[in-house]
Parts: sequence; structure tokens; C-alpha cells
Amino acid sequence: MQILKTRIELENALAFIRGSEHTLGFVPTMGALHKGHISLLRKAQMENDYSITSIFVNPTQFNDPADYSKYPRQLAVDARMLEDVQCDFLFAPSSNDVYDGVRIENFDLGPHMHTLEGEFRPGHFQGVAAVVKLLLEMVQPTKAYFGLKDYQQFMVIKKLAEKYNLHSEIVGCEIIRNESGLALSSRNQLLSSEGKVVATNLSRALYQIRSQFGTIPIKQLLANGKNALSTTPGIRLEYLEIVDAKTLDSLSHAEQGKFGAIALLAAYVEDVRLIDNMFLTFPTGNMNA
Ligand code: PAJ
Repeated sequence: MQILKTRIELENALAFIRGSEHTLGFVPTMGALHKGHISLLRKAQMENDYSITSIFVNPTQFNDPADYSKYPRQLAVDARMLEDVQCDFLFAPSSNDVYDGVRIENFDLGPHMHTLEGEFRPGHFQGVAAVVKLLLEMVQPTKAYFGLKDYQQFMVIKKLAEKYNLHSEIVGCEIIRNESGLALSSRNQLLSSEGKVVATNLSRALYQIRSQFGTIPIKQLLANGKNALSTTPGIRLEYLEIVDAKTLDSLSHAEQGKFGAIALLAAYVEDVRLIDNMFLTFPTGNMNA
């Protein structure tokens, strides 16, 4: 695996791919890699001739400075993990390399930027859009892979690629969970072992909602879910919503979710902010179309 630390090194290493028939699959990450990230890479490797992962803890997407400073960083460990699974290139630029000389624009990518995560993390999707646009322009992959764990992020990035004609196909990949159902996340590293047990209540609430969806009214489902989570010691629920999987509009009746319905939540456990989601009905359209 080649480790590339600057734009110039990236340009030089990928020069042989530009203008060739070779395809390149790209997995952008912020590091502290886990099996969720690796599952994206596996898909990228399966579908392309070459694979590249980026690791960059993007300062512009953190609305909370404490969250940015405590975000886990372990580049050497990550590089070894990528080497083990035969990733071809690791791009690990510095903040200067990504942002120097760049005028960060104000992105208008529609209502998806403003609800749920957008509401609770002001500016977050501006930072995500800025860095993903820069990374896609630098790497110019055939396909770029994103996890549905960050469902809203995936929707925003699809819109970004469409609006700015970024020439890369945006591919959504299923959520990887541990044996207890907890969605894998780099932030799980910040939890104690008790915290990890407490955090499994988040996916449990989503499974419960999914199993009862369509049999009891949505209002009641949400009330039950919120009540279960708010009364669990160690959990501070930020939001739990059931929305249309395409428009992200709140649903009041199961049949409203024409594209499919999805439950999404954010909650703090031990001061660590976790998000998770689950489709309640299968999306009727193609997620990756
Ligand atoms: P990060 O949180 O490192 O995640 C990188 C990618 O891995 C994202 O597309 C995310 O959705 C996916 N991912 C994380 N946990 C997953 C899981 N349990 N199952 C499947 N996929 C999972 O998301 C970011 O970084 C950043 O916002 C980024 C897009 C890199 C821009 O800075």
C-alpha cells in the first residue's frame, strides 16, 4: 500500500489511472477504522481495479470543539489495518493540504441539510460537503462509498455530487453492527465497557420500532421509544424520529412513507454523541440510483 501525505503525492501516484480504463474505488474516512469502514473498502475493491481510503479528521464539520479534540486518532494502527486488507492507496493529508488556498463556499443542498442532524449540529453538513467535494475533486474516483449509518450525510453527498457534476458514482453501504446490535462507530472507542452495554439500547429501540411498525400508530411508537430511551440510565436522547426515507419529512401514518420509512436517532452516552438508524420498510426505489 502506498501512503500519500500531500496533494502532489496523490496526483503523482494516481497519474497512471487518469485517462486510462482503470477504475478507482474511494472510501473517505476520518480514521479510527473499524469493520464498518473495512466493509466499504471491500465493496470498493470488489467493484474497482484499484482502491483508495482517505483519513482526515475534518475540522470544518465539527460544531463542537471538544468533540474535535477528543476524536480518536491512530494513523499507524489504521495504516496497518488497511495494509492487511490490501488497500492500494492511503491518502492522509494535513489540514493545510486540504484547505490551503481554498475558498469554502456556502452549500445549498436542500432541506436535508437542515433537519435532524442539521438542526442539532449547525454547520456540520456545510463542513461535510466542503471536504467531500474537495476530496472527490482531488481523488476523482470512479465510485465513492459511504455508509448508510450516516444516512443524512449519504443523502447530502448524493445531492452534492449531482449538483456539482462530480463524475463519481455515490454508493451507499449497509450498516455494520456488533453482535449486540450496536452500530460500529469510531466514537465507540471513547465509551467504557459499561457505556457500550448502555449504548446497545439505542439499536434495541430501533429494532422494537421496526417490529411494531404498521401495527400501532407512529405517534405511539415514537412515544414508547422515547420513553424507553429517556428512562434508561446513562442515555441522553437528542432526537428519535420516523421519517420518509427520501424526503426526511416526519411521518404520521405508515402508508405515507412512499419511498420507505426510516427511524433515526441521536443520543449521548457518557458524553459521546452516537447516531443510528433503521429502515422500517424497504425503500421502494433504488438507494443507489
Ligand atoms: P467516518 O465517520 O470515519 O465514516 C467514514 C464512512 O464510514 C462513512 O461513509 C460512514 O457512514 C461509514 N461508516 C461508519 N460506521 C459505519 C458502520 N457501522 N457501518 C457502515 N458504514 C459505516 O463519515 C465520515 O467519516 C466523514 O463525515 C467523512 C464522510 C469522511 C467526511 O469527513
